[in-house]
Amino acid sequence: MCSSNSSYTMKTLVLLFILIGLTNSRIYSASIIGYAGSFNVLDYGAAADGITDDSQISGRLVAPSSPSIWTGQDPSQWLAFRNVSGLIVDGSGAIDGQGQGWWDQSCRYHPEMEGCTKLAPTALKFIFCSQSSISNIYFANSAQTHILIERCNGFKVDNVRIQSPGNSPNTDGIHIQASHYVSITNSKISSGDDCISIGDYSSNVQINNIQCGPGHGISIGSLGKGGSVAQVENIHVSNAFFYGTTNGARIKTWQVGRGYVRDVTFENLEFNSVKNPIIIDQDYCDVRGACKEMVTGVQISNVVYQNIFGTSSTDIAINLNCSKSVPCTDITMQLIQLTSATPGKEVTAYCRNAYGQEYSIEPGPCLSQV
Ligand SMILES: *[C@@H]1O[C@H](CO)[C@@H](O)[C@H](O)[C@H]1NC(C)=O
Ligand SMILES: *[C@@H]1O[C@H](CO)[C@@H](O)[C@H](O)[C@H]1NC(C)=O
Repeated sequence: MCSSNSSYTMKTLVLLFILIGLTNSRIYSASIIGYAGSFNVLDYGAAADGITDDSQISGRLVAPSSPSIWTGQDPSQWLAFRNVSGLIVDGSGAIDGQGQGWWDQSCRYHPEMEGCTKLAPTALKFIFCSQSSISNIYFANSAQTHILIERCNGFKVDNVRIQSPGNSPNTDGIHIQASHYVSITNSKISSGDDCISIGDYSSNVQINNIQCGPGHGISIGSLGKGGSVAQVENIHVSNAFFYGTTNGARIKTWQVGRGYVRDVTFENLEFNSVKNPIIIDQDYCDVRGACKEMVTGVQISNVVYQNIFGTSSTDIAINLNCSKSVPCTDITMQLIQLTSATPGKEVTAYCRNAYGQEYSIEPGPCLSQV
């Protein structure tokens, strides 16, 4: 496999160019960074003149099947675009990460294994980009996160399908990090981790019409890891359907974190047998249950949950578990109806240090008044 590296890579590039339309683009040394090296797309016929259109679209891009044959310079990624503006990735093509080899060697489950020093690669990264998009692509079985959007300003994800098994470790669907004006619409995501997650320094994110399951839900967080400062605001999640996920609408922040999450709306959500349909965990730490309360925390305010219904597979359907020193404020919950996935069972709402208003919620009431 290694000896045929270069021809394999060339084939990969050709397929990728069938997948990618570089219309209306300004490209600053955009690179496709494959496992055998980094390539400048301008050297491979990308015109980026606004006239040439490379976006006829088909093909299947397949990653090397195991860590032992992976020779990438940067083990954290398979495909990546850096420093691009106006890039359009579109098509009916498929990107298959063949992640099984990494999942089997997951350090989470087998820390003693030798392959553990190897980072599992993210399937496709967009780093430092603006006014770009990805649409109509099928992703399967990434070794790690499927799509990473990092330090981007203006990014659209539309009609993607992401499919990895529910037990595949760390296979987030889409992770947004340090990015602004991002929309994710009309997509179906099955994964072993968060369907969509939003990290520190992200704002103006619109998520609409998403099916999530299996997976860990749509998460804001975890934020504030290692004492970092979170600045997350204007996040709008609407029309999402969750089936069999561990979480639904989640905000998760580290106790050691600082900064804020504010102006968040979760609306028109439907849950089918979800463990934690509505959850805030503001005391997140490495060792569950062994964390002492700290005076620091990421401040959570102005979060609206409305028009939410469906079933919970655990007893606690609403869990707003906020910190004592940095409570959650200005929370609104309205028109919520959550029942047990087991007929005849009761579910409860648990709120701790969570302040705000609620109207017509079941189970409830829950919030503290100011
Ligand atoms: C992005 O591209 C521009 C134009 O070529 C260049 O000046 C800039 O240094 C690049 N930035 C990064 C972070 O690579
Ligand atoms: C709330 O958070 C505290 C601190 O992490 C934890 O000990 C407790 O079990 C949590 N309660 C619920 C109901 O999740």
